[in-house]
Amino acid sequence: MKIGIACDHGGYPIKDIVKEAVSLCGHEVMDLGTNSTGSVDYPEYAKKALDAFSKGQCDRIVLICGTGIGMSICANRVAGIRGTLCHDAYTARMSRQHNDSNCLVLGGRVIGPAVAGDIVEVWLKTPFEGGRHQDRLNKIDALMGSRQ
Ligand code: RB5
Repeated sequence: MKIGIACDHGGYPIKDIVKEAVSLCGHEVMDLGTNSTGSVDYPEYAKKALDAFSKGQCDRIVLICGTGIGMSICANRVAGIRGTLCHDAYTARMSRQHNDSNCLVLGGRVIGPAVAGDIVEVWLKTPFEGGRHQDRLNKIDALMGSRQ
């Protein structure tokens, strides 16, 4: 897969670890910035990755800000995105098995680099379970309004 990765200055300190984990799992990195700890606005970087996903330029995306909260808010406004803020391997595994996450969100000020690497590896390697979980995803569109 090609994985689009975007961060703000709060996420930048763990971006290289995330990129390394993606590469080690055999996937291609599309780095969409930012490229320093200089202050930037996270919606602008979320938009770069979300647009790349929507245009089919990458298969999944990883968004990183300080807490992961701002990037989560941005991600889940976009049609077809299932953005999941994960703090550990368990939430990363569940986000794939139960929620078919296609957008991993991380908080660079909340987790350390080793945990970030673990999360990315688990998120990339864990398949969606389908079945009742697909029914529940369908129900999100039915009850909340489809944004496909
Ligand atoms: C930037 O200071 C910070 O607000 C941002 O990285 C993120 O945590 C927002 O939700």
